[in-house]
Amino acid sequence: SLSRCTHVLGFSQSVAANMAEEAKKLAAYSAVDNNVQNNQVVGVGSGSTIVYAVDRLAERVRQEKLNIVCVPTSFQARQLILQHGLALSDLERHPELDVAIDGADEVDAELTLIKGGGGCLTQEKIVAGNSKCFVVIADYRKDSRVLGEQWKKGVPIEVIPMAYVPVSRVIAKRFGGEVNLRMAVSKAGPVVTDNSNFILDWKFEHVQNWSEVNTAIKMIPGVVETGLFVNMAERAYFGMEDGSVKVRK
Ligand code: 5RP
Repeated sequence: SLSRCTHVLGFSQSVAANMAEEAKKLAAYSAVDNNVQNNQVVGVGSGSTIVYAVDRLAERVRQEKLNIVCVPTSFQARQLILQHGLALSDLERHPELDVAIDGADEVDAELTLIKGGGGCLTQEKIVAGNSKCFVVIADYRKDSRVLGEQWKKGVPIEVIPMAYVPVSRVIAKRFGGEVNLRMAVSKAGPVVTDNSNFILDWKFEHVQNWSEVNTAIKMIPGVVETGLFVNMAERAYFGMEDGSVKVRK
């Protein structure tokens, strides 16, 4: 019957969701265990995967009595740090970080990333860019050969609100594809970032050189930052479906 079908479908969806959560946790724990040491300044990313990393970090700080200072990449990250009783800092007091750990929406074979699914890309890029080592944590669904293979929502781009229409037009004209203003779930208005800006999602078609495209988009007046992280990540930890962790360097 239909009700039995939807029941079975719902069950398999929840099995898949549990598997992905388990994979996020595996990646996060492995990254924290292998990249964080005593007396370090640690950048804390945003999203759902980072929650597991902060859990593990707090556990290690307690158990091993580590002296760790955390720099957040968003309001969410700041709250996570405070809720876990970790030491909160900022780039004024700690302009150079030892390691930054963050999630990603997609990771290609060269460790080029799409980030900003949660709209925190600008602060995430600032923190990652000022870290000696930037480590990505993700589940198997983010592991890609080329960008766009898995992540279908496009490249997030943070823009100054007054410029969202001209920036959208310039991007569509110069690089093709489709550009959409990201709306709040309620559809009542646009998503507003921690920096009081808007987010455009660029559904690209054919891109050869991500470094060139990233630089060109950044040069458009009104663009604050792109969710393209090119040549930034040192390593990516993927939690896999079979319970293993795959590391890409
Ligand atoms: C937020 C981000 C996140 O790190 C990215 O969206 C991954 O999130 P999740 O761990 O929930 O999949 O870039 O701006």
